[in-house]
Amino acid sequence: MYIAKRFRKLNFACSKVSTLIRQYSTKMKKTVLLLLLLPMFMFGNTIWSKTGHRVTGQIAQNHLKGKTKRALNDLLEGHSLAFVSTYGDDIKADRAYNKYSPWHYVNYPLGISYKDSEKSKDGDIITAIEECKAIIKNKNNSREDRIFHLKMLVHLIGDLHQPMHASREEDKGGNDIQVQWFGQGSNLHRVWDQNLIESYGMTYTELAHELDKVSKKEVKKMQEGTIYDWVDESHQICGELYDSVKVGEKLGYQYAYNYNDLLFEQLQKGGLRLAKVLNDLFE
Ligand code: ADE
Ligand code: ZN
Ligand code: ZN
Repeated sequence: MYIAKRFRKLNFACSKVSTLIRQYSTKMKKTVLLLLLLPMFMFGNTIWSKTGHRVTGQIAQNHLKGKTKRALNDLLEGHSLAFVSTYGDDIKADRAYNKYSPWHYVNYPLGISYKDSEKSKDGDIITAIEECKAIIKNKNNSREDRIFHLKMLVHLIGDLHQPMHASREEDKGGNDIQVQWFGQGSNLHRVWDQNLIESYGMTYTELAHELDKVSKKEVKKMQEGTIYDWVDESHQICGELYDSVKVGEKLGYQYAYNYNDLLFEQLQKGGLRLAKVLNDLFE
């Protein structure tokens, strides 16, 4: 009798403990999941991968004139363009920089040019690039201010060549178009920010080395035009990319095969054009 009672008590205690463990582990699971998802909310899914920005910076570095190299060496205190290229995204972790969020992209209706579009009162990637250039150029501005805007400029010329950053408003540059990437949830914006380039599995130095095998004639051709031409070019590509997927589509090897060349060309153009912008600025 006594033993049976003790046994029942023990049984009751055990089931209580296991319920507690279960509740605790559910809480733990929720906390871990939240911690894993937090960066997605913090960065709002709008970051062209560090690799992409660094490839652009590294390619540009190889095409600088002597005078530009000296000016950059002074302002960037010896750091490379690849190293500072991610600064524009790094500062997103600090809310004090929130006002720079609209600087990374522009949205306007497909089929019209940037110049003909209605401008956002918060600024966009084009007004931001113009502001950066003006501040860097004017030596009366503080050194600190010129350095900040130089690092932003390096970043923004990269973003300008991510087609989904010259996009349309209604789906936030493809952020609202859900797709799967090799079985994982993603969206059209993220495919172009990160998934494609990461799935290629090369480092930024390897990619920059491979993508910089361009003839002088091709370099000149790719450097033609202004930021107004380049944004319309990205915007037109973006229009084609909207047609490249259906909502919920399962993307993988075939999509990567179809679009790797375009991704590489955008990285190449970003790098060569960044060099052009910097050479013009410090000439
Ligand atoms: N948020 C809204 N539109 C965007 C775009 N085109 N790119 C990145 N973030 C955005
Ligand atoms: Zn993005
Ligand atoms: Zn950016």
